[in-house]
Amino acid sequence: MSANQDPPSLRHVAIIMDGNGRWAQRRGWPRLKGHHAGAETVRCVLQCCRRAGIQYLTLYAFSKENWRRPKAEVDGLMRLLRDFLRRQEAELHDQRVRLRVMGCREDLSAAVRREIERVEVATASYEAGQLILALSYGGRTEIAHAARQIASLAARGELDPASVDEQTLARHLYLPDVPDPDLIIRTSGEQRISNFLLWQSAYSEFYVTPVLWPDFREADFQAALDNYAARLRRFGGIEAGTPPQEKPPC
Ligand code: IPE
Ligand code: IPE
Ligand code: MG
Repeated sequence: MSANQDPPSLRHVAIIMDGNGRWAQRRGWPRLKGHHAGAETVRCVLQCCRRAGIQYLTLYAFSKENWRRPKAEVDGLMRLLRDFLRRQEAELHDQRVRLRVMGCREDLSAAVRREIERVEVATASYEAGQLILALSYGGRTEIAHAARQIASLAARGELDPASVDEQTLARHLYLPDVPDPDLIIRTSGEQRISNFLLWQSAYSEFYVTPVLWPDFREADFQAALDNYAARLRRFGGIEAGTPPQEKPPC
């Protein structure tokens, strides 16, 4: 970024919260202890977002592929999610932050779904910010889900297949009103997307830190924001730009 360049705008931060298991294992503790410690980091990062005026925070909490883990870990994670929602609710009310969930809810137990729906309804009118939890989420599943909806509209004669473009697909994603993430942070040093926000991340800036999620604190978050502030987002152009809205000529 040149000296007189404004920092890029930052509305939406998405985080791949990784490294809980390794954090616990390094201490000789069961992996679940790492997940519990990671839940504390979530509270801290949510507060940081409020202070930094970031409108949307999306957290990758459980992937479609995480169902492959041992049953005891999955059950522990689901219990932790319910406890987290109960404990976090008061703060969401205080800060007037809306909770939303993206992913395959039908995979979750009825008890977890009830807890999610209760908090979603209770916070639905809040406009100070959004906390979005990606749960049983997979980017490929989301795109396939959108394609299925579009195909059934076309089959019913309600949509001309020739009119399907990027905007059509974007309108059928889980949360079509949420802007694409400006910044995606991944903790624990892994340099992969792990099926997270595949469509929405087309022009997101990536930031990978070796810090494990339970150790990630305000200073680490601020380092990510500072790093982002120095990026030049070109969106295919040759100078700082905005995301393309128009359909490119093909
Ligand atoms: C991330 O931590 C949390 C979830 C995927 C639910 P991990 O459990 O993946 O931790 P590592 O990568 O094994 O250290
Ligand atoms: C990604 O972490 C999923 C979440 C953070 C919820 P994983 O630990 O599951 O990813 P891989 O298996 O290392 O790619
Ligand atoms: Mg991991």
